[in-house]
Amino acid sequence: MATNRTFTMIKPDATEKNYIGGILKMINDAGFRIVSMKYTKLTKEQAGAFYEVHKERPFYGELVDYMSSGPIVAAILEKDNAVADFRTLIGATDPTKAAEGTIRKIYAESIAANAVHGSDSDENAAIEGNFFFSALERF
Ligand code: CMP
Repeated sequence: MATNRTFTMIKPDATEKNYIGGILKMINDAGFRIVSMKYTKLTKEQAGAFYEVHKERPFYGELVDYMSSGPIVAAILEKDNAVADFRTLIGATDPTKAAEGTIRKIYAESIAANAVHGSDSDENAAIEGNFFFSALERF
């Protein structure tokens, strides 16, 4: 059964360039409610654990180094059809292929430094949200 929550991170390239406000405005304007949010910095070990599913990919080392290189904003978001609608809002992983008006088209610089993460399934949204937030913080 589809749930109405997804998980996102605003990545180090975007926090470094002061895009947090612009990205959160796009998220709110698209109808998402912020359920939980924190500004933090991942260690290499934490980034490695978060992206464990990509461990065998050739870009895993680069991804872990990058995601632990600076602060991120982690958030759980709520809206009907949250996972699919959020992926539409952020656009393709590779910003050169992202549709006009999407967050990655506007704010991302490359496939690795692509401004935002969005969960790819309801199951992963729950796993990823639980990685960052305790039950008390997911109200
Ligand atoms: P994200 O949605 O956070 O999920 C996995 C991430 O891996 C993805 O966004 C990209 O930032 C990164 N990624 C995917 N493909 C590549 C690639 N070919 N080279 C570097 N990073 C990649």
